[in-house]
Amino acid sequence: MSQKVQIALAAGDGIGPEIMDACLRVFEAAGVQEQIEFIPVEMGERVFAAGDSRGMTDEAVETVERTGLLYKGPMGTPIGGGGKSINVTLRKTFGAFANLRHFQSLPGVDTVFSRAGVPVDIYVVRENIEDTYGGIEHRLTNDVIECKRLISAPGCDQVHKFAFKAADRFGIKKVHCAHKANIMKMTDGLFLDRFRAEAQHHPGIEIADVIIDALCMNLVLRPEEYQMIVLPNLQGDIVSDLAAGLVGGLGFAPSANIGDQISIFEAVHGTAPDIAGKGIANPTSLLLSGLMMLRHLGMLKQAATIENALLASLEDGVHTGDVRGDGHPVGTQEFADAIVSRLGRLPSGKEARPIPDEATANHTPPTRPSTNQLMRTFETIESTVAGCDIYVDTLITPLELAQRLERICEGTAFKLTMISNRGTQVWPSGSPYTEVVDYYRVRFELRDPAIVLGQMGQMPTIHLLTKVAEKFGVTDFQPLKYYDGKPGYSLAQGQ
Ligand code: NAI
Repeated sequence: MSQKVQIALAAGDGIGPEIMDACLRVFEAAGVQEQIEFIPVEMGERVFAAGDSRGMTDEAVETVERTGLLYKGPMGTPIGGGGKSINVTLRKTFGAFANLRHFQSLPGVDTVFSRAGVPVDIYVVRENIEDTYGGIEHRLTNDVIECKRLISAPGCDQVHKFAFKAADRFGIKKVHCAHKANIMKMTDGLFLDRFRAEAQHHPGIEIADVIIDALCMNLVLRPEEYQMIVLPNLQGDIVSDLAAGLVGGLGFAPSANIGDQISIFEAVHGTAPDIAGKGIANPTSLLLSGLMMLRHLGMLKQAATIENALLASLEDGVHTGDVRGDGHPVGTQEFADAIVSRLGRLPSGKEARPIPDEATANHTPPTRPSTNQLMRTFETIESTVAGCDIYVDTLITPLELAQRLERICEGTAFKLTMISNRGTQVWPSGSPYTEVVDYYRVRFELRDPAIVLGQMGQMPTIHLLTKVAEKFGVTDFQPLKYYDGKPGYSLAQGQ
């Protein structure tokens, strides 16, 4: 037999080692280790405590980069002190851009929907890198803090391509894109536009879009209407947990973080410090994530065999104590034993997974790039500067601010066109009922766009910025640009 596929393995913190041990025993019994070699790596609380702010050793990073695969248990994030979540760091550092989770009703797991006879079988694909998860935050004034929300066209394309490919593979007939493009017209608008663009390459799959708030209500009312939902990062994070609630909680939600080169498979719940070491944690989420990994590698037969044994155990009323159901609660290792003893058995209900023939692990380890790869979607667009937004830290009234700024821009190519506060226009028109804070956006646009537009570059706006900065505390500067003749900026509320 050819060489085994190597996978970095981090058991994690808290309940991590207990549930990982249970999963590895099930894998061993199903013959998985005949084709896979797990290589233990050091990540998590112990590494943070040893002073490494990444939470992973150099050897761990090297092993993940070399193998391209990581199977991990939950890991604690140090609270305070600026330590970032290792889980987010891992996904972002290794370019695991799509988070795939599968939420399905399981036999023996008592939920509102199982009692009502409503089956739930939903895949959630969440963009994993961008959005507010860039963690780009600044204190702008005494009273205002900003978090930058970045959405890129190539970032959208990666996740949408992955979603449609996965839908094809799973035989999914309809994919929804969820968003808030009615409010965030440009960022979520881009996410939706790129979804529609990618859909054109998959004519066999029906598409629809749904506004995120409506989705949350629909998921609770009619979860059976959804097969796959694609979402931006933060909205996807929230909807993933909502969907977990539909099928009995986080203990049943597997998760795969897929990138072009490196993929990470993990349980979605945390380290459960309240029950760590008691031997009662539920290994199902980590096991199902492991099954996603086996399927990712092509070990479809082993994955289906283990899943059927898991379903048969639950159907027989064997489950851990966190599960609501009529059966008898057992500990983590007894639950693993129950699964092992049922390998080869099918659950009696319609849940039984068909057993495919494919059983060979197939994986090409990453080729280390010589530098960071530049991704591009729109390569031939012409941009021209049309003005700028300058953000100032001031306590004066909108009218007084306008009068002072109009004096500042006299004799320049720009005129003051708008002042807004927290996104709502307060000058030249507005309502005195609009409450304001110490952070204004002032918009300058070309006095004569017909003549100058396209010929000026950004320097005149920088000169204007300098003039404003002589009189005001400037917190932020944003050139206003046209892209292929269309404005690349939003209007203020009320403008
Ligand atoms: P948690 O998911 O660890 O626990 C929430 C509740 O669910 C607890 O009552 C716990 O006992 C229960 N629970 C969780 N997993 C269970 C399982 N497999 N079986 C039975 N019961 C289970 O969330 P919490 O308490 O907010 O976070 C604890 C730590 O975990 C924090 O340091 C957090 O940063 C980290 N965390 C790590 C994640 C990861 O590694 N992907 C994800 C979420 C949190």
